[in-house]
Amino acid sequence: MNVLLLGSGGREHALAWKLAQSPSCDRLYAAPGNPGIAEEATCVAIDMTDHAAVTAFCAANTIGLVVIGPEAPLVDGLADSLRAAGVPAFGPSKAAAQLEGSKGFTKDLCERANIPTGGYIRTTSLDQAVAALADYTAPYVLKADGLAAGKGVVIAATLEEAKAALSDMFGGGFGEAGAEVVIEEFLEGEEASFFALTDGTAIMPFGTAQDHKQVGEGDVGPNTGGMGAYSPAPVLTADLQARTVKEIIQPTVDTMRAEGMPYSGVLYAGLMLTKVGPQLIEYNCRFGDPECQVLMMRLQGDLVEIMHACAQGRLSEVDAGFADETALTVVMAANGYPGTPEKGGAIDLSASEEGGAKVFHAGTKRGDDGGLIANGGRVLNVTAKGANVTEAQANAYEAVDRVDFSSGFCRRDIGWKEVAREG
Ligand code: AMP
Ligand code: GLY
Repeated sequence: MNVLLLGSGGREHALAWKLAQSPSCDRLYAAPGNPGIAEEATCVAIDMTDHAAVTAFCAANTIGLVVIGPEAPLVDGLADSLRAAGVPAFGPSKAAAQLEGSKGFTKDLCERANIPTGGYIRTTSLDQAVAALADYTAPYVLKADGLAAGKGVVIAATLEEAKAALSDMFGGGFGEAGAEVVIEEFLEGEEASFFALTDGTAIMPFGTAQDHKQVGEGDVGPNTGGMGAYSPAPVLTADLQARTVKEIIQPTVDTMRAEGMPYSGVLYAGLMLTKVGPQLIEYNCRFGDPECQVLMMRLQGDLVEIMHACAQGRLSEVDAGFADETALTVVMAANGYPGTPEKGGAIDLSASEEGGAKVFHAGTKRGDDGGLIANGGRVLNVTAKGANVTEAQANAYEAVDRVDFSSGFCRRDIGWKEVAREG
């Protein structure tokens, strides 16, 4: 079967690498792709916002499966357009992608389905939002309702900060995403991510992970898209995973189906492991980046077969299978990130993959002379395996030290919490 993968980040490089390994993959295309993806796929220029162009490409190239990497085209309904054209697509419909596209939608769903999550209100009025702060205590959790590239959440330490953040949100500081705001109860605990594939009915647990959102070692400084991750996350014990499926994933899938918005694709649940059990912080309608990279390092099953079955409502016919080993990825970012990253820095990866490590490209491109250069904030995801987090971490940093990227930096402590527990 010919497969088309959409996206251009480290997540999509990891997906491309795994899709290309599948015996059922004939030709793999990617749009727009990146230099790492180009080693696995034929990269083509298709505008993802032009649904007719995507479906025309699929018809012309007998595409049997489209894998949609990022959230924006899903929230924009690309999976619906593909299905209408008879092309199996991995990823939810526009209606189902509201689970990521609208935080208020998800909070309301949790209420209807009795899913454990923090108390909340949603409002489109600044006055009402400010008045509602009286019902909460610091720290205040304020969320722009819509897609905000991971930057739509403010945790305000004081009432004054909360009011200022609300003024900013309603004043357009978060664009369209902030026209509606959710104020939410602060949940205490450790965060972890749980992934599940679903075809609308069947549910296949698809691994756990923990990431490091903040730019600085020890989890300090501004938030980023993620500076590193590992899988599995031992903190999500078998018992907590079973509870997550029973109390969160299953009622979500069942309610979405019952309400005429069956969810098909990957459900990425951001969880807070509180004293009373796992609570939902948020849903994403796509794989995490860089969490996907560590999941793909461990996946043993045939990704084309799994995603095709998922897209066709036959998920119960396939198996995933993950290695027991831990995979850990370290993000190498360009100096300046998460502010304005320095572009154009030279990269040499020639020695980096010795010893079984894998370097996924996130923000790279080919310079005029064909050499690899930095072209984004998060540039590389250096990924390795080991018997536990401690070993995987050591292997990943050995590989990091073989990467030549002098205008970049990374955190040296990815996995620190788990390393301390293992020690
Ligand atoms: P989100 O984009 O919803 O994942 O939120 C970004 C980050 O804000 C999360 O990863 C948490 O660290 C934090 N956060 C969001 N909601 C809450 C909450 N209700 N309680 C505590 N922390 C939260
Ligand atoms: N690494 C966090 C995310 O992909 O949302």
